[in-house]
Amino acid sequence: MISQSTTAAMYDKLSGLLSKTVPDFELRIKAELAAEINQLKVEKNAVILGHNYMEPALFYSIPDFVGDSLELSRKAAQTDKDIIVFCGVKFMAETAKILNPTKKVLVPSEKAGCSLASSITAEDVRNLKAKFPGVPVVTYINTYADVKAESDICCTSGNAVAVVNSLNTDKVIFIPDEYLAGNVARETGKQIIYPSRDPKQNFPGELDYQMIGWPGRCEVHEKFTVEDIVNIRKQFPDVLILAHPECSPEVVEASDFSASTTAMIRYVEKTRAPHYLLLTECSMGDNVAAANPDKEMLRLCNVRCPHMNEITLEDTLESLRKEQFEIVLDEDIRQRAYVAVERMLHIG
Ligand code: 13P
Ligand code: SF4
Repeated sequence: MISQSTTAAMYDKLSGLLSKTVPDFELRIKAELAAEINQLKVEKNAVILGHNYMEPALFYSIPDFVGDSLELSRKAAQTDKDIIVFCGVKFMAETAKILNPTKKVLVPSEKAGCSLASSITAEDVRNLKAKFPGVPVVTYINTYADVKAESDICCTSGNAVAVVNSLNTDKVIFIPDEYLAGNVARETGKQIIYPSRDPKQNFPGELDYQMIGWPGRCEVHEKFTVEDIVNIRKQFPDVLILAHPECSPEVVEASDFSASTTAMIRYVEKTRAPHYLLLTECSMGDNVAAANPDKEMLRLCNVRCPHMNEITLEDTLESLRKEQFEIVLDEDIRQRAYVAVERMLHIG
């Protein structure tokens, strides 16, 4: 039984932060759910990790740690709790299991996928390796465990350039995000090619290139365009524009800053710009706006990640109660994926 004062304290906290974003009746229901989850979390010796894209009431109530993919991977690796509940998408929960296999790792919804993770298979990676023998494979963390298992090293949006530079090789295969790869190529001054998905089609050998990409895209970040930026700058010439590196290289180039979700949050905290615009998932926009009430956030439109949106307080409560949906990985795949993720964590 949850005491009334615990629920009231949770309601006060959420209302203080979110009264302008979330209707009051919803805040009351969510405060009750959050108080119940937090009690169960203690009883079950669980830790809750929350990605920056979680909806505001969840983001500000139940996670022990919030952050971007890299930060949450580190927390998952370090925890001594029995259960890790990952309020994020499935590939993130898999990464937690890869790093901390003796823990029970739960993801609150089975539907929390990712368009990047589903854009490539382990067989696609094996075909790429056969086409470009000896070239190391850098794999974005937004992939499933069997794809990581075929890779030399993983990276996140927060360390992609550092990971590519750390390899010190003439060429790298960088998968599966076409745009992140393009942005890394731009920053490192490398030439990038995109071979066909068809393993039988050969690439013209005479081309000069140092990176080999893959045509995967984030269905959220591909929606932002240079035209959006031009239009907003016409109306607000002094706007600060921050773009996630899953946006196209043209969009990133037309922006003022580009980095991981947490780096974008920190940048807004420090900026003195009169207005700012985030080119990323819109729940993160709500979370940033709530934490920075004295700054003016501009909104282009409402671009919500449908996969992150699957994670609700209701499902998280059910997940903890029934200990569902557990991440189970083949041990051989987990061990091979571990090597690639661990190598990344050493780079920072
Ligand atoms: P971050 O690692 O920057 O949090 O990004 C994860 C993600 O899925 C962005 O769409
Ligand atoms: Fe995947 Fe894009 Fe959603 Fe991130 S925002 S989880 S990359 S679909």
